[in-house]
Amino acid sequence: MIYVEWRDNMSVGNTEMDEHNKKFIGMINKIHDSLSRGNAPLVIPEILLELRNYAGYHFDFEETLMKSGNYPEYQRHNQEHITFISEVVDMYYKYYFCPCGDDLGYEVLNFLNEWFTKHITGTDKKLAQFLGRN
Ligand SMILES: [Fe+2]
Ligand SMILES: [Fe+2]
Repeated sequence: MIYVEWRDNMSVGNTEMDEHNKKFIGMINKIHDSLSRGNAPLVIPEILLELRNYAGYHFDFEETLMKSGNYPEYQRHNQEHITFISEVVDMYYKYYFCPCGDDLGYEVLNFLNEWFTKHITGTDKKLAQFLGRN
């Protein structure tokens, strides 16, 4: 079952950023799937690692756009990325070392869903709109 479906209002108006964000949503759906199938302890640490790596790639991409466009909100946007990476790494270790059942898995799922919804529709959209105007 699909947990988060890509919606048109998630589009930031930049094809590459949209493609990257669809990939993140795919990972969130995989986490949800693993919780429904009962194999979350095996799958979640793996997805968190994959997510951390892909986020590194995607954030570098946005960072280049921000720098070359002299984006005035670069510092603030970048700080959200840095904080997110450290939260994902924390969750990875917490999940990996703790036999906490599915509760922590649902916590991870909610955190990622909320973070991406907010970051994509707020912070990233603002950046893409700025780039589209300049
Ligand atoms: Fe982004
Ligand atoms: Fe971003």
